[in-house]
Amino acid sequence: MDEPTAPIPLGIDDGFAATKVALPDGRLVTIPSRGRVGRAAVTQIAGICTDIAIAEYSADDTVYSVGEVDGMSTRFDGYANSGLNRAIVQHALQVAGAGGRPVHAVSGLPMSAFYLPDGSKRTTAIEGKRASLLEAVTCIDGRRPAEIAFHAVIPEALAAWYDYVIEDADGEPRLDEGRSVRAVAVIDIGGRTTDYAVVDSQSLQHGASGSVSRGLLDVKAALAEAIQRRFDLEQVDERQVDGALRTGQAHLFGQDHDFSREVAAAKGVLLEVLHDETRGKLGRGAGVDAVHFVGGGAMALAETIRTWFPHGSIAPHPVFANARGMLKFLRYVCEDGP
Ligand SMILES: Nc1ncnc2c1ncn2[C@@H]1O[C@H](COP(=O)(O)OP(=O)(O)OP(=O)(O)O)[C@@H](O)[C@H]1O
Ligand SMILES: [Mg+2]
Repeated sequence: MDEPTAPIPLGIDDGFAATKVALPDGRLVTIPSRGRVGRAAVTQIAGICTDIAIAEYSADDTVYSVGEVDGMSTRFDGYANSGLNRAIVQHALQVAGAGGRPVHAVSGLPMSAFYLPDGSKRTTAIEGKRASLLEAVTCIDGRRPAEIAFHAVIPEALAAWYDYVIEDADGEPRLDEGRSVRAVAVIDIGGRTTDYAVVDSQSLQHGASGSVSRGLLDVKAALAEAIQRRFDLEQVDERQVDGALRTGQAHLFGQDHDFSREVAAAKGVLLEVLHDETRGKLGRGAGVDAVHFVGGGAMALAETIRTWFPHGSIAPHPVFANARGMLKFLRYVCEDGP
């Protein structure tokens, strides 16, 4: 008889814009949170495409195409517990090489989806998300799915705090004593939400923590509108918009077109809102010892947000801070663990 395969511990940050996976060997994998109902209607040409560019999954008796498709929006309230979410996470696990293996996972919910304003946990929402990722997903092309056998859910910005205070030296955790006793504000600028967690002496300060429903997807929506307006297009592929956000150029009608002014204007609107929110929560930051920015938005808005606080910092590879923290939580902190 075959030896049972050892479960692989993973941090899975299944955000509205991108799904990020942190693996115990140090690898970090990301895929866009992009998929849609139905078969892909694309044939991949054998020998040219080596990556899993598009794959089809069945969850809840519905077929989803995930990957290089013009996806449907993940920006709906039930996304965290949806079949689309399970299909996208399964695709990320396949890309991470976890197909056919049992998985122990920690994922997250935004602060305000995890806690009520009085600091008590939203147990129904947390349990709903926890149970959702344990449900089976089938790979339509016959590949073996990764099966999540254990799953815990933690608040997203708090995951980034674990990443900030726990150093992982080749599987040996070391608590950074200095960081763990200080008052730290973590700001996670994501796609749909910006999450705040203020932790002082290892206690979460609920008054200054929480989520705001603003993020880089607002910038993308404004940019999509600008591209449509300039070329009188009825719709524009979300992948075009993502490229324009990152490079300032949109590739249309066989040519690159400069959209850097529109990108700057759309970022400016978001920055103004986030600046007001951040000042509202933290003031000028006098009451905390450090302000730590994470998330894809920290990358996209780095130039401006690094001027906001004299004691501000941007995490290394900020897009992966939550996923790394989720993996550290799973391996070194989780008490009701597997
Ligand atoms: N290097 C980069 N340059 C510009 N933009 C980037 C870069 N990396 C990521 N982004 C953008 O940052 C945005 C937010 O990414 P992130 O992965 O943090 O969102 P998310 O976690 O999926 O969203 P949420 O936390 O709201 O669920 C994405 O829309 C992406 O386009
Ligand atoms: Mg996020």
